[in-house]
Amino acid sequence: MALYSEKVMDHFRNPRNVGTIENADGIGEVGNAKCGDIMKIYLKIDNDIISDVKFETFGCGSAIASSSMATELIKGKPVSEALALTNKAVVEALDGLPAHKIHCSVLAEEAIKSALKDYYDKNGIAYDKKDFPDCESCGHCCGE
Ligand code: FES
Repeated sequence: MALYSEKVMDHFRNPRNVGTIENADGIGEVGNAKCGDIMKIYLKIDNDIISDVKFETFGCGSAIASSSMATELIKGKPVSEALALTNKAVVEALDGLPAHKIHCSVLAEEAIKSALKDYYDKNGIAYDKKDFPDCESCGHCCGE
């Protein structure tokens, strides 16, 4: 079996939603201390809907495919659904990632959460702190 699914290869070769959004409503940037990869997500939010989303990823192919798939999964969805997006859902939508590449999908989940937190902060919207685990201490990506 090939190491990477066709979907991973497709999203790596033809990533969706690459770029930036001017005057974005929320911007999130996260990095993985171990591999040095960086992911940045831009959100446009209208009436609680993610009307547009773009990403810039300086990272491995799995990180690019994960960003691309994650943006597709939240585009047009309510903020609450974007907040609930897990790295597991991204991996499933990609038809899997090799075990040592799971942390790349975690980066996508964290970048979206970070952008949503930025949106909440900018707009003075109250949120539950436990929806936004502190990246340093969560142990997901950095502790892998
Ligand atoms: Fe670091 Fe993929 S190797 S995100």
